[in-house]
Amino acid sequence: MTTLPDDDPFAVLENSRVASVLRRLYSEANRQHLSIIRHFLPHTLSYLRRRFMPFSENEMSGFYADKYIAIVEDQGAFAYLTARALRARTVVEFGTSFGPSTLWLAAAVRANGGGRVVTTEIVPDKARIARQHFEDAGLADLIDVREGNAIDSLATDPSDIDFVLNDGFPMRALDIVKLLAPRIRPGGVVLTDDVGGFRGNYKGYLANMRDRANGFDSMLITLKGGTEYSVRR
Ligand SMILES: C[S@@+](CC[C@H](N)C(=O)[O-])C[C@H]1O[C@@H](n2cnc3c(N)ncnc32)[C@H](O)[C@@H]1O
Repeated sequence: MTTLPDDDPFAVLENSRVASVLRRLYSEANRQHLSIIRHFLPHTLSYLRRRFMPFSENEMSGFYADKYIAIVEDQGAFAYLTARALRARTVVEFGTSFGPSTLWLAAAVRANGGGRVVTTEIVPDKARIARQHFEDAGLADLIDVREGNAIDSLATDPSDIDFVLNDGFPMRALDIVKLLAPRIRPGGVVLTDDVGGFRGNYKGYLANMRDRANGFDSMLITLKGGTEYSVRR
């Protein structure tokens, strides 16, 4: 009798050192779920009605300062495989946090033969700890961590972008995509987290991405209750 293999998202990774750091980081991240659910409890009705959820930029250095709020493991594996399919060499990430998503992306770039992942984080302590995680995984040489507001740190480069993970806070998602769109190569992909869960906050973003005049073909895929998948025309 043959047994089916497990649906283990980490199985896509050939690099066992990266997989082991990622497992460690996800076990820390997943322990924070309860406090995040508690934080959103007062807004359950808005969430269910897909209305705007209050999200203040002050929270970046407040409630969220020690929170991973990472893409889930399946999104990471999906991002990894997409970056592999694109043979991505130049990747941009809005929102490093403590770095799990960056590791998925850098692992793909390494497997593609090298390149760089430019990632952006406004909270200095998060950037510092993420850098340590990148060292631990042996991928630091591929990752350019830019501290400060991503709107400034991504203002002029890189160009010829193959893949963007748009995973900062919702209020800046559209500004970031507008900033980067002219520098994303045709066929390049933008993956945007939490669009399903924060539908009310992403209204303007979705309207932009679904209008072909703005340069993308785009749809919501079901990962984590709704991740926007956009391909540069
Ligand atoms: C959802 S978390 C990123 C999670 C990460 N991509 C992962 O999956 O592991 C969003 C991060 O974006 C950062 N951020 C929010 N607005 C920013 C901005 N304007 N510039 C740079 N970083 C920002 C926040 O501090 C936070 O750590």
